[in-house]
Amino acid sequence: METKKDWYKDAVVYQIYPKSFCDSNGDGIGDFRGIISKLDYLKELGVNTVWISPCYPTPDKDNGYDISDFDNVDPKFGTMADFEEMLDEMHKRGIRLLMDLVVNHTSDEHEWFKSAIQGKDAPYRDYYIWKDPVNGGPPNKWGGDAIGGSAWIYDEKSGQYYLHVGFHYQPDLDWENPKVRDEIANMINRWFDRGVDGFRCDVINMISKDFEADHPGDGPRLHEFLHELHERCFGPHNAFTVGEVWDLPPEASLMLTAPEREELTLAFQFEHMREGREKGLRFYPAEFDPHKFVATMAKWQKGLNGKGWNALCIENHDQPRSIDRFGSKKYRRESAKLLATLTYCMQGTPFIYEGQELGNINPVFHTLEESIDIESQNNQEILIKKFGVEETLRRFSLDSRDCGRVPMAWDDSENGGFTTGKPWIKLNDFYKEVNAKKELEAEDGVYGYFRDLFKMRAGNKTLMRGDFELVTNEGGAVVYRRFLEGEKDVYVVLNYSDNAISIPNPVKDGKILLSSHKREALTDTLKMKPWESLVIE
Ligand code: GLC
Ligand code: CA
Repeated sequence: METKKDWYKDAVVYQIYPKSFCDSNGDGIGDFRGIISKLDYLKELGVNTVWISPCYPTPDKDNGYDISDFDNVDPKFGTMADFEEMLDEMHKRGIRLLMDLVVNHTSDEHEWFKSAIQGKDAPYRDYYIWKDPVNGGPPNKWGGDAIGGSAWIYDEKSGQYYLHVGFHYQPDLDWENPKVRDEIANMINRWFDRGVDGFRCDVINMISKDFEADHPGDGPRLHEFLHELHERCFGPHNAFTVGEVWDLPPEASLMLTAPEREELTLAFQFEHMREGREKGLRFYPAEFDPHKFVATMAKWQKGLNGKGWNALCIENHDQPRSIDRFGSKKYRRESAKLLATLTYCMQGTPFIYEGQELGNINPVFHTLEESIDIESQNNQEILIKKFGVEETLRRFSLDSRDCGRVPMAWDDSENGGFTTGKPWIKLNDFYKEVNAKKELEAEDGVYGYFRDLFKMRAGNKTLMRGDFELVTNEGGAVVYRRFLEGEKDVYVVLNYSDNAISIPNPVKDGKILLSSHKREALTDTLKMKPWESLVIE
């Protein structure tokens, strides 16, 4: 039986990258009041849950994923009163808020670390992971963010190493220490007291480590730690939590999310996001095969069915725009709609990344200076050595994290209506072509299609709860079926190609629920235009 606890199944989540969403005061950085001014835009789209990327105080070396104070908001986004007003305005509109929970590590400018680095007897020393050298070098072979470097940093003063699994200014907290777990649980509960509804949990499978293993993360106490957080924080607050985890097969993902285990609500899976990359590696593009992409998604639909629930996601702040990788810039609107139909008509909870609802495409990085993300900078030297500057910039424009981090364009005025000042990162080169005003006004705009899709979904039990079966996946044709006892089947029919193709209509006397090309009637054989999407019942 379903209970109120299952609200995550009805959620439509929109991720806001706060620095780039909307600037209210002209300092070039998005902020809480900017978000407030766009809540009706989100509501109208069908969004009922917002996940906001970190908005805590930070030295900002990794855009807030390096937190220096868990209990406040960064002044560049506004005051705590502004935050509370934002949350209030969300709740008034029936929108829930998920905060970003970044607790595998802190910034090296967090007070705890500033104390810890003082010496072996410093008060917060044991909040972090310190080890003596082994054979005069780092304690194990784990790699760091400097290519070819170590995840361990040597501290001259104490003669010990400390661990950072992420970037070098992100020292890992020691979750084996019960004091650390107390601090974090109490901090989470204070955010619940402020009224937030849940959390997206950053690199959460890293919190338990096995120092003998080849890679950090997925250590022996992971499930125990998460269950403890559930008992102390998430469970009592009926919270929705979604974990960022990489490279786990469906069975391992279920170990984190099966409801009876009481750990997390959902976990992202990014297996399909590795398609179109050589060995799945960022900056190494390979030919993209849409049918492999669909098959991977279908594998997860099957793998979690009846036991867990999918987080449906093809874009976030760590990924370039989906159209550039999985769609077609020539058929920009059509392919934005196709990717949305493919993804969000599956079983699971939709996650939309800001601007995806406009059919946003990547900017172009013309110079190395324009591409400011730490991950691009870390890879720059090697890429230039291998391929030269021009090709490196092409790869940054195709696959860097900055691709999705340039400001939202609200209209075609100066700075795309994002700010009246100087934006903190370059604008999207295409903002005059792709912006909210234009998509809202256009008859075939992407925003309106997303809105219609979420409206259809919300009103259709089969789409909200039904099972999934892949029917066809070849020659550009993708057909899948959703089915639920006592309800009509729903078919999703897609032409995932640049060519016109014919697909047999799977439903006799069917009814069109959604059509990207405003199709009015069904025929036995569906002549599908390039990138056409159709949902039939
Ligand atoms: C997560 C975040 C990413 C960040 C990293 C830091 O993967 O999504 O943006 O850089 O954690 O370790
Ligand atoms: Ca601002």
